[in-house]
Amino acid sequence: MYVCLCHGITDKAIAKAVREDGIGSTRELRAKLGVGSQCGRCIQMAQDIIDTTIIDE
Ligand code: FES
Repeated sequence: MYVCLCHGITDKAIAKAVREDGIGSTRELRAKLGVGSQCGRCIQMAQDIIDTTIIDE
């Protein structure tokens, strides 16, 4: 599912960035994938995915 429509970033891509690149915040995610750098509507969902991915580990 697409989380960030502005940049075409999926939930899987975010979870992968958390697992493989150690991304732990939306600020880091924005720097790496651009998530949240345009309209910002995806930030809350991106945060939720970061949180659940970290908890699942
Ligand atoms: Fe992510 Fe617009 S949907 S910045």
